[in-house]
Amino acid sequence: MDRPFRVQRLGHFGLNAVDVEAALYFYRDLLGFMVSDVIDGGARLTPAERAALGDTRRIFTRHNTEHHTFVIFPARLVEHLSGRPGSPNTINQITWQVSSLQQVVESIPWFASNGYPVRRAGRDTPGSNWNAYAPDADGTLNELYYGMEQIGWDGLAKPMSMHSFGFRAEPELPQPSEADEVAEARTRGDDLGSGFRHAETPPRQFDVEGIRLARPFKVVGIGPVRLFTPDMAKAEDFYRRVLGLRITAETSYQGHRVVLLGCGPEHHAVGLYPLALRERLGLSPHTNLMSFGLRVASYRQLRAALAFLASHGVTVRDLPPQLTPGIDYAAYAIDPDGHAIELYWSMEQVVRCPAVHPERTGSRRPERYELWPETIEDDSFGGEVFLGPWG
Ligand SMILES: [Fe+2]
Repeated sequence: MDRPFRVQRLGHFGLNAVDVEAALYFYRDLLGFMVSDVIDGGARLTPAERAALGDTRRIFTRHNTEHHTFVIFPARLVEHLSGRPGSPNTINQITWQVSSLQQVVESIPWFASNGYPVRRAGRDTPGSNWNAYAPDADGTLNELYYGMEQIGWDGLAKPMSMHSFGFRAEPELPQPSEADEVAEARTRGDDLGSGFRHAETPPRQFDVEGIRLARPFKVVGIGPVRLFTPDMAKAEDFYRRVLGLRITAETSYQGHRVVLLGCGPEHHAVGLYPLALRERLGLSPHTNLMSFGLRVASYRQLRAALAFLASHGVTVRDLPPQLTPGIDYAAYAIDPDGHAIELYWSMEQVVRCPAVHPERTGSRRPERYELWPETIEDDSFGGEVFLGPWG
């Protein structure tokens, strides 16, 4: 291999929110992410610091059976701990699943020898994933991990007592299996049913293609992550050469070069855009995130989701389709901090059969989402399948 690990997929992603409660309303209540754990990030603060920083909760949420696929960290606390108030780096992590724990460990000298030393490594609880965190050229943390905790039909995260298996050091190999840790917890008398459980509050009033849900759509996938960067060459160096993503599309928009990179069959997982485009597109100057993608289960659900969000006062807007080759129908919901959340339902898959049609992406789509047709031609989505029931 060209490097000691292979990035397989975007596993989770996180944003810092100035108002954690407002972010919870947006991501949990409106978009349907389920909370899997809430951790107080201010435990070591003095009472005066705590009073000044306000809400210090770190919220771990999921859309599937993984312990977390999206995390919300309190921006004021993150800025306090990092000493960088007002940083446009509002992404707390872009997190990649690699093929094995050995690959996580062997990534540590790789990142260091390529000029991107790992800031920390170990095993995080909640989530139980072994990981290493390296910043990209703009300081955005990219995490590699193995072994995310899975949440079953009972909706229970691991009990707090099992957070004892976490640590902050480079893991020595081999590590014990999770099954042995569960056996140890049972033997020592942990209450295995005492973990956090998401409590859905809105009534399940929508018939979502045959299932009663609390909103007229279901988020079934995360990504791509689109980044604005002041230095395209440096950003590309990190994501392509160091992380190993492959370029799947290069395009130009109003004279600015745009690069899309992917891993696995998805057309792209990351998009790199010159920072100069941010103002031109009218996106928030407080963040270098251009957008974070959320995939819903069908075109019907996409249209319903946009109408649902707009009816709850969320700004839903369009961006030129030329910026997003590989995704046809997409519109952007603006979160309480000004982050653009890209809602879509299908992405070109880079596979030999059936043939891909990147040339038609966006060409059939009216520019304003309100003008989209009620139905579109069969365009069956051949990407990652969502496992399990929707709700
Ligand atoms: Fe993480």
